[in-house]
Parts: sequence; structure tokens; C-alpha cells
Amino acid sequence: KTMATDTRPKVFVTRRVPVRGIDLLKDKFVVSQWDREDRIPREELLRGVKGVDALFCLLTDKIDKDVLDAAGPQLKTICPQLKTICTMSVGYEHIDLTECKKRNIPVGFTPDVLTNATAELTMSLLLATSRRLKEAMTAVEGGSWGTWNPIWMLGHGLDGATVGIVGLGRIGLAVAKCLLPFGVSRIVYSGNSQSENEQEVNAEFVSFDYLLENSDFILGCCSLTANNIGLFNAEAFSKMKTSAIFVNTSRGGLVNQDDLYNALKSGKIAGAGLDVTTPEPLPTDSPLLTLNNCLVLPHIGSATEKARSAMSELTARNILAVFENKEMPSRLNI
Ligand code: DGY
Repeated sequence: KTMATDTRPKVFVTRRVPVRGIDLLKDKFVVSQWDREDRIPREELLRGVKGVDALFCLLTDKIDKDVLDAAGPQLKTICPQLKTICTMSVGYEHIDLTECKKRNIPVGFTPDVLTNATAELTMSLLLATSRRLKEAMTAVEGGSWGTWNPIWMLGHGLDGATVGIVGLGRIGLAVAKCLLPFGVSRIVYSGNSQSENEQEVNAEFVSFDYLLENSDFILGCCSLTANNIGLFNAEAFSKMKTSAIFVNTSRGGLVNQDDLYNALKSGKIAGAGLDVTTPEPLPTDSPLLTLNNCLVLPHIGSATEKARSAMSELTARNILAVFENKEMPSRLNI
């Protein structure tokens, strides 16, 4: 088949992704791709989306009105050019959903398949920060490890602790399940509404303030919305225990980073573990990186072979479903 006679729909993939998704798409679609590991430049995105029927994108791509317009005619009254946008992520704050809805474009995302991987990474950060692993490793490497010392490098373990989870959604719940075998005494959570799954993990729905004041560990597990940008600010940190550890595997936008720095520096809270920051990558001169009680990871919550491959596959299956007139396996309710 030459391109001229090829009647298959066109899909544009905005990055090199695990091959599973591409393999699923390539028989039924003409696949074009930004086949590189770096982020697609804006002009390439605007060029790549032109005339395609489906977009396979990532959380690093801003999918706004201009991108939708660049795809081609979108008016409801005529057959829209772009028939679906599917992101290889569970987060979707990079997509202008109002515009998609206006144009009747179904949006797919990838919940569930990354839940366990992200919960595991949340636990890694929690354990690492609670037991001060960054400081401990620095001590070994820097030669300040002296004799075994009964009062040195003491942390607070999870045994008997109260853990506060902000957002008991898919990931928050999976984290709660991981926490139970560590002997935590109490799991409290806050969010927009009470979760029907709370009993599974014996979690108590409490106000955000109550959670801040009573938790030994505070975990950001919610999605970022217009309402919770900067939720963790100076006021929130001032309500936490001075022994509290804050972990965020959600989105950097939840946190006011200057306020977090001050809280850590002044000993208002004991430590922090972040898998997400603003911006990403976090500049190497960020003050947060000067603190030995702050551990920062490069947004690797879902970075297992299994999860990323499943995310790629689910994104492809979401796209395929639209063209087979089937229900998307994971369609965003907009
Ligand atoms: C997501 O999917 O939104 C995560 O941030 C990356 O897996």
C-alpha cells in the first residue's frame, strides 16, 4: 500500500513509547511518531497532529485548543478530523477537557495498570524518608559514619503510626493496603468525598486539617485539580507535627515548594519525599536539593517495565476501540 491509497486512519504518537502499544496499532493505522526520548517540541506537535484521526500523547504534552485546531476541522456539525485523544497516563491535567467536550472528542487515559507500581514507589519514598536513608547514605559515602551509635540516625518507623492519605482513590487505596502489614495503628484520609472502599483498609474519613494535625506521615495521592493547586502551603505545613514526613507522588502542583523548603529547613516538619515537582525536571539549583531531609525522585512512580508496557497497550486499546465503534476500555468521563 502506498500512502496515497492507504485508507487506514492515521494516528500520531508523541514520543517513543513501549512497543506494545505501537505493535497493536500498526496494522490498523498509519502510525506516525515523534520516535525520540526527548519531549516533542511544540511546533512538531502542531505539525504532527495535522490531519490525523487519533492522538496518542503523554503527560508532558500540552493538549490545548491550538493543538485541536491544528488537527483539522472539528465542528460538531461535520465529521471531526480528530476522533480521539488518548493519553498514556492516569493524570489528565495537561488536556483541555472543556475543549474536547465541546468538540465531542472522547478522551482515553490509563488508570489501574499503574496503580500498584505507583503505590510501591510511594512506599519506597515513605520508608526511605522515615528511616532517613538519604542522610544515612550520605554519611557512609562522606565518612561521617563513626562507631555504632545508639542515638544516631534515629527515624520514626511505620509501626504504630498514623498515616494520612490525601485522596483515597485507586492509588491511595493501594498504598493503604501496603501500609497495613507494617503495623500502622491508624489510616485517616481526606478528599472530596467519602470513599466506598474505606472499610477494606479501615480508613477514617477526616477533614484536611484533622489529617494534617494528627498524622505522622502525610501522603499526597490525589489528582491535581483547579481546587487543590498549592494545597500543601505554609499554613498546611504549620499544622503538621514537627516529626511529620510528607510524601508526594501525585503532581508537583499540589505543593508550594518555597513553603515546603522553609518547613523542612526550619524543622517545622521532619522530612519529605517527592516523586513529582514543579517544574519537571527540577532545576539542579533548586534549594530543595540542598536539604538532606528531602529526597527527590524524577517522576518514576509508574516506571516499571510491566506498568509502562500496560500503559502503552491500554492507550492503544483505547484508540482502537473508538475506530471499532466499541466502548473504550478506559474513557475519561468528561
Ligand atoms: C500518570 O500516569 O499520570 C503518572 O504521573 C505517570 O505515570
